[in-house]
Amino acid sequence: MGPGDLEKILKVFPENVSSELIVGLETRDDAAVFQIDETRALVQTIDFITPIVDDPFVFGQITAANALSDIYAMGGKPLTAMNLAGFPCSLDMGILGEILDGGHRKVVEAGAVVVGGHTVQDDEPKYGLAVTGIVDIDKLVTIAGAEPGDVLVLTKPIGTGILATALKRQAITEDDMPEAIASMTALNADASEAMTRVDAHAATDVTGFGLLGHLHNMMEASGTAARIEMGRIPTWTEVHDLAHQGMIAGGLNNNRQYLEPFVGFEDGIEDALKAMLYDPQTSGGLLVAVPADKADRYVELLKEADTSAWAIIGEVVGGLAGSITVEKG
Ligand code: CO
Ligand code: CO
Repeated sequence: MGPGDLEKILKVFPENVSSELIVGLETRDDAAVFQIDETRALVQTIDFITPIVDDPFVFGQITAANALSDIYAMGGKPLTAMNLAGFPCSLDMGILGEILDGGHRKVVEAGAVVVGGHTVQDDEPKYGLAVTGIVDIDKLVTIAGAEPGDVLVLTKPIGTGILATALKRQAITEDDMPEAIASMTALNADASEAMTRVDAHAATDVTGFGLLGHLHNMMEASGTAARIEMGRIPTWTEVHDLAHQGMIAGGLNNNRQYLEPFVGFEDGIEDALKAMLYDPQTSGGLLVAVPADKADRYVELLKEADTSAWAIIGEVVGGLAGSITVEKG
């Protein structure tokens, strides 16, 4: 399923409207936003994934960071989380306990609370969380506000899908990817807090549709285009080699197939690098469109918060809505 296929599945009934619903099904935003009084709105999201690493505690942490991220992408603060799990009865229940423990610790780190959950029997383990947050309406950041001239900032490296594929194919072990694991378990809280202080125009988090998919969604929703530079996009050293070795999952090919008509590459960018841009991410960073005169300040705030992997990757430009030019840089 590509970034645009959701619309074909979702049917919005005419009765399913509410004046309090600020952000709903119609955009490809990260979470729904429902106004509760004059100044505040609830931010609601749900996300679940299958194990991306073998360590159940780490998997729990990654899953929770990934789910909480959609609240952060909109400038919100998480309040409550509910667990959702699928688990085979053939496996030791202690593993499920470790997964939930990992998730719980991340929710607590985010300043939120786990308020309940539900587990069903499932052949393949799955874990996810439904998260409710709160946002000051004047600090709300959506996917749709980018303007030509804005600077595009990415707050985590890309390549987790390629690493996970290599892990599944036993080309690497979890010990070979400590930085990527640290990145996937890291909350986007600081990047989110900082973006509300520089009046970011638009934001989203980079997950299953890859960097280009989420950038395309932001540009299409904003009615703008983007120009990014390959040389500025952060990744982990081993990812480039693994891409050359063909450690590419089906999701990456789906993304590429859907997105290719929107993307123009400068000559001389090798296929392994292009693949990285389509790579589905788990618990990726925020992609933020910052007014050009505030970009330096945003980067300063990210440095102060020790968000070590920030990078200015390009800019928002005029042009066909949703189109992306990738230069070598
Ligand atoms: Co998201
Ligand atoms: Co190469």
